[in-house]
Amino acid sequence: MKSICGLVVLFFVMLPHAAAYDPLDPTGNITIKWDVVSWTADGYVASVTMSNFQMYRSIVSPGWTLGWQWAKKEVIWSMVVAQTTEQGDCSKFKGNVPHCCLRKPVVVDLLPGVPYNQQFSNCCKAGVVSAWGQDPSSSVSAFQVSVGVAGTSNKTVKLPMNFTLLGPGLGYTCGPAKVVPSTVYLTADHRRKTQALMTWNVTCTYSQFLAAKNPKCCVSFSSFYNQSITPCPKCACGCQNKNNCVVSDSKQAHKKGINTPRKDNAPLLQCTHHMCPIRVHWHVKLNYKDYWRVKIAVTNFNYRMNYTQWTLVAQHPNLNAVTQVFSFDYKPLVPYEAINDTGMFYGMKFYNDLLMEAGPQGNVQSEVLLRKNKDTFTFKHGWAFPRKVYFNGDECLLPPPDAYPFLPNSAKVNSITISTMVVSALLFLFIIS
Ligand SMILES: *[C@@H]1O[C@H](CO)[C@@H](O)[C@H](O)[C@H]1NC(C)=O
Ligand SMILES: *[C@@H]1O[C@H](CO)[C@@H](O)[C@H](O)[C@H]1NC(C)=O
Ligand SMILES: *[C@@H]1O[C@H](CO)[C@@H](O)[C@H](O)[C@H]1NC(C)=O
Ligand SMILES: *[C@@H]1O[C@H](CO)[C@@H](O)[C@H](O)[C@H]1NC(C)=O
Ligand SMILES: *[C@@H]1O[C@H](CO)[C@@H](O)[C@H](O)[C@H]1NC(C)=O
Ligand SMILES: *[C@@H]1O[C@H](CO)[C@@H](O)[C@H](O)[C@H]1NC(C)=O
Ligand SMILES: *[C@@H]1O[C@H](CO)[C@@H](O)[C@H](O)[C@H]1NC(C)=O
Repeated sequence: MKSICGLVVLFFVMLPHAAAYDPLDPTGNITIKWDVVSWTADGYVASVTMSNFQMYRSIVSPGWTLGWQWAKKEVIWSMVVAQTTEQGDCSKFKGNVPHCCLRKPVVVDLLPGVPYNQQFSNCCKAGVVSAWGQDPSSSVSAFQVSVGVAGTSNKTVKLPMNFTLLGPGLGYTCGPAKVVPSTVYLTADHRRKTQALMTWNVTCTYSQFLAAKNPKCCVSFSSFYNQSITPCPKCACGCQNKNNCVVSDSKQAHKKGINTPRKDNAPLLQCTHHMCPIRVHWHVKLNYKDYWRVKIAVTNFNYRMNYTQWTLVAQHPNLNAVTQVFSFDYKPLVPYEAINDTGMFYGMKFYNDLLMEAGPQGNVQSEVLLRKNKDTFTFKHGWAFPRKVYFNGDECLLPPPDAYPFLPNSAKVNSITISTMVVSALLFLFIIS
């Protein structure tokens, strides 16, 4: 009973936070910086940089879409390495026609393959931006915009308002533009500093509850000390897609074109009782004297999605003593100085950084060796299972606390038991299915 109470408390602690605040990445944000690099006859030229400062949330294909509202009647004369999705009504203009006359322009990145002479650092990646914790060098996206019918000095320029960011779906909320100290650039030879004429920043933060009503992933558990597998909760990701899911290995699953992504990124899911595109399985595999071993498997159930540069974040008190991680890369995340219980797993480049579409190849797995902390380590009360799990920056639904695999009261926990093998075999079938 006590253990259930403990787990219930834990469960409430784990309840998702509704605000745009992620306790595992409290300063995580995307900052959009506008540097005015020159004043023109009727406006200015700005270099716009989007930096993803989130530790483990990237912007995946089909990339970002950035919108804003002009404060006055500004137009966009031209854009370098990005474009607005619509031009709008520029009929007032004779001679030179602006790139966009909308009061609320909507901008997207260019696709890769732009001629080299038109390129610009950090452009043309179809709006795909890595998470900062995973790859800082590709966590930036940039373009240049030439604005007309605008102020021509730092006294008369009006900042654009009401920024919106799709990354690529809903979820981001952007604050107002704020004038900040001008960006200072160092010349290539590092011997001269120049500076922007004026700089403003916009900060956008993510909230999963603005992104989607339901979770996008779920977690299942198993252990060597109990043969039962704790599955993902039923309808963990909502069952509204239940009518057009694909039965695995059915004729439909092998039909041509089943893997063609849709423009709106709508998933085509394999039929499961949880109806999640992603399942994370945490198996407590082995118990040694000073160490214990966990197997982690991530399975993709979406036929229309390859996850490139995926990330998996887990929170568990023993992640302060990770000894070895097999076949994934690992990085501790330490959002609060004193607490080291969170880490990010991600695929190794060219080996398993691509989580393939649903099907026989749609899974990645790893094993983690952890050193026991003699004071806290236990298999009781579900302690060996993670407190939180995130896939690609979205929190996954865990099983309810009363369904965790229980430690049988009488059994001694041997290093390797027969049940380990049974459960491993079951788990193998489970992962394949
Ligand atoms: C955005 O993230 C950066 C890097 O973590 C941080 O320095 C900055 O304070 C954050 N900005 C806001 C408004 O939270
Ligand atoms: C403005 O954004 C840049 C990132 O593009 C960041 O380095 C800088 O610290 C920000 N300035 C302020 C005052 O937040
Ligand atoms: C505008 O520019 C003047 C110098 O040209 C400078 O003194 C002032 O601080 C600037 N104001 C802002 C808001 O950047
Ligand atoms: C746009 O921003 C302005 C000022 O920042 C605010 O007063 C207005 O309510 C916003 N409009 C919308 C539709 O959010
Ligand atoms: C995933 O990648 C494979 C191999 O690169 C490709 O054949 C397949 O069409 C891709 N699937 C999707 C959904 O993009
Ligand atoms: C956090 O734990 C990891 C091992 O899991 C260790 O490598 C890292 O140094 C620790 N970081 C801090 C700040 O204690
Ligand atoms: C295994 O755990 C389940 C709960 O998930 C529990 O009902 C069952 O009694 C446990 N089995 C043993 C042998 O203790």
